Amino acid sequence: AGFDFGMIGLGTMGRNLLLNMSEHGIKGAGYDKDTTKIPLLEQEDEDHNTKGFDDITAFIKSIKPPRAIMMLVPAGKIVDDVLEELIPLLDKGDILIDGGNSFFQDTRRRDIYLQSKGLHFFGMGISGGEEGARYGPSMMPGGDKTAYEVMKPILEAIAAKVDGEACVTYIGPEASGHFVKTVHNGIEYGLMQLIAETYEYLKYFLKLDNAAIAALFEKWNNGRLQSFLIEITSEIFTYKEKGENHILLDDIKDEAKAKGTGKWTSQIAMDLDVPIPTIDTAVAMRNLSIYKSLRTLLGDKYKTETHPEEAVDIGHQTKLLEDAFYFAMISTYAQGMHLLSKASEAYKYDLNIADIARIWRGGCIIRSEFLNTIYKAYSNDKELDHLFMNKNVESELKETETGIRSILQTAIGNGLGMPAFAASLGYFDSLKKASSGSNLIQAQRDFFGAHQYEKINVSGTFHTQWTGIKSSK
Ligand code: 6PG
Repeated sequence: AGFDFGMIGLGTMGRNLLLNMSEHGIKGAGYDKDTTKIPLLEQEDEDHNTKGFDDITAFIKSIKPPRAIMMLVPAGKIVDDVLEELIPLLDKGDILIDGGNSFFQDTRRRDIYLQSKGLHFFGMGISGGEEGARYGPSMMPGGDKTAYEVMKPILEAIAAKVDGEACVTYIGPEASGHFVKTVHNGIEYGLMQLIAETYEYLKYFLKLDNAAIAALFEKWNNGRLQSFLIEITSEIFTYKEKGENHILLDDIKDEAKAKGTGKWTSQIAMDLDVPIPTIDTAVAMRNLSIYKSLRTLLGDKYKTETHPEEAVDIGHQTKLLEDAFYFAMISTYAQGMHLLSKASEAYKYDLNIADIARIWRGGCIIRSEFLNTIYKAYSNDKELDHLFMNKNVESELKETETGIRSILQTAIGNGLGMPAFAASLGYFDSLKKASSGSNLIQAQRDFFGAHQYEKINVSGTFHTQWTGIKSSK
């Protein structure tokens, strides 16, 4: 028993994490049902610290106790199947880590089940894709705290580093790690939809070509929009396949797929009564994109009369768009962070929001310059109710507010829509409304359903026999 760590599932993520460990002198054992993946691992491992096994019992025996074994298999039933296979082979105190994008309620159930078997379970969100796994991911482990101490040196060694600090921290009990990863992905969906809408504006309204769009994203990435997603976007706009003379992006079907984490974020938020409209819109827009033939028919039927200004001032428009994106991006992160704080109360996760922002600054898909501002905001005020309450965020929103209003006016006037931008601004506008129209909803509910209402400055609940039904028709 000489290996420090075990990995079940030698796909891209599992293999690259083992190679990352190996580079840090951590000896990893790998197992996969698909034996063709095993030789690949050892071939790629230049540091020769890993070994692949095709026999699960030999694999388990090769790991030092208490064993830390990670599963990187597709989320869902396969995780349960692997667990059942492993349980009889493990010893009390061993630690099982699910590194996939599992639904947090499944993690909760598995945590309780494995505890009953004397095993420790960890639901760990891992972000950063293939590159991250190989050179430093951001990791969100949730589960038994004492078991975390066993894994901590390994996770800190392989994690991405920002200012010398590892992008991993103990998130909290039971399913909190997978929960936080889900919200990370919800924010990811929101930001990706904002970028897609920005692309539509640049391409269909400003009529910029791919090269100009690439240059713009590259410029933005050197400023306050600096982020992994903006960076890869600028690369996408220049990418040509070998021997091809055109941009690959133009060949890709505009129907967006999803594996479910964005939808879960919206579902969970609705369960907790937390508004996250940009993320909801992003999920809905991926779903809408799938109706390509309907979109094509409707596009022919309803032509929006556009009012392109005589000569569009590209420089001015892109400046406004940068402001608009920055504003919408802040709104998206704010919604996600707010969901984290509310969920932390509801599920008793005791999340450290500042720490979560800190470990998202490197390695993960939503890493960005702006996460530093979020990190500072929550570090300075642990009880911060909402990101919009922070002074720095306040001045950034005020500075970019005109930009997003202007872009949306133009977008809507020209039939471009930009629903995620609209949701981001609408969220802000509605949240800063001390008085809203919701008293009317209460009156209506009481009118037709005797649902009762509360009054300003008078305690208690009230019901009124509303008159005014003019006709029963
Ligand atoms: C990450 C990503 C990763 C994966 C998502 C994509 O943080 O590294 O979020 O987990 O790319 O599963 O999700 P969709 O397939 O739903 O877009």
